[in-house]
Amino acid sequence: MKKFSKKLMLTVIIILTFSLFLISCSASDDDVNGEDDLIYLTLEELSQYDGQDGNPAYIAVEGKIYDVTDSSLWEGGTHNSYQAGQDLTDPIMNESPHGTSTLSRVPLIGEIVE
Ligand code: HEM
Repeated sequence: MKKFSKKLMLTVIIILTFSLFLISCSASDDDVNGEDDLIYLTLEELSQYDGQDGNPAYIAVEGKIYDVTDSSLWEGGTHNSYQAGQDLTDPIMNESPHGTSTLSRVPLIGEIVE
């Protein structure tokens, strides 16, 4: 009987540990837009993402990186003569008619690092 309950206890512990492992895996899969999934690029690395030759189109504003690849207004990585792959903080604030309000329409995907 003692042997049986020890075995049972061990089985329960193994099942619990395995369940906790599965729960933690699925929690991180659900977190698709969470901080864990952000990408971190230097300005030099960002320059590859110019939307040309099949590259994705990323833009940086105030240290945040936005993905404009799927935006019809950024076809080929260009928008009103501005090119993706750059920090466009100054032009979006000082040259565009819309300011930063349009950024909520495109996915925030990362942050600029030194
Ligand atoms: C003279 C310069 C610019 C002009 C005339 C301009 C004009 C426009 C217009 C008319 C729209 C559509 C707004 C609407 O549908 O309500 C738009 C959208 C947008 N603009 Fe600009 N823009 C300029 C510069 C910039 C810059 C420098 C950025 C850089 C960060 C930018 C980022 C965006 C984004 C992210 C959208 C939303 C795209 C979407 O909805 O898919 N714009 N812009």
